[in-house]
Amino acid sequence: MRLLPCVQAWFKRINMLPQNLNSISLIILLCRQGVDTKRYFSCEGGSVPLSCDWGYIKVITANYGRTDHTTCSTGRSLHQLSNVDCFQETSVHVMSKRCDGRKSCSVPAVNSVFSDPCVGTYKYLDVSYLCLPFRKSVTCEGKRTLIDCGNGVIWIHHANYGRRDLVTCPHKLATTPDCYSPQTRSLRSSCNGKNYCQLNASKTSFLSDPCPDVHKYLEVMYSCI
Ligand SMILES: *[C@@H]1O[C@H](CO)[C@@H](O)[C@H](O)[C@H]1NC(C)=O
Repeated sequence: MRLLPCVQAWFKRINMLPQNLNSISLIILLCRQGVDTKRYFSCEGGSVPLSCDWGYIKVITANYGRTDHTTCSTGRSLHQLSNVDCFQETSVHVMSKRCDGRKSCSVPAVNSVFSDPCVGTYKYLDVSYLCLPFRKSVTCEGKRTLIDCGNGVIWIHHANYGRRDLVTCPHKLATTPDCYSPQTRSLRSSCNGKNYCQLNASKTSFLSDPCPDVHKYLEVMYSCI
């Protein structure tokens, strides 16, 4: 795609983003590198494996529910397919928390993860995402890291204090991959617009401890703009 139409298309698409990216430079970068959205469906009971060969996951839209009669309809009764106005508003948040900034992730399309928006309807998870050229910083619990953009300034895309896999920051208390405390907002207020920023992965830096007995880490995805 030529640069200008691509940038215009992105401005339209940005309206769909759960957070305001406010970054023309990032959009130009996306257009130069030819980033495009990937879409994935999984029927209820299955799971959605997202992955990026290049860059890191950024979830754009997600719905656990049903918006047409045909997707995931094989072997289902009419009664289970008739409601096509079934939305779970929190789906994007659930997916982002688990997947943003990772190379791959797998999220089960089940009521216990998303909670049931329409009892009796056979649902599916519909996700679209991008692979974005973030920089990534990981700080193990108790440690500090400096992120440095030189003459550029930091823009935080996503941050999580917790644990989303068992292999990062190995430790005998690395006992669960399901520990989330999104810190995007707080790190944006401390780091955005600065040339460098010190990250502290300590319990005292964050208001809540999402999993007290687990060894955690702070993951931060950012760009220099
Ligand atoms: C990390 O700690 C240092 C020193 O205590 C502080 O100056 C800095 O603002 C902290 N970083 C963040 C992102 O809160």
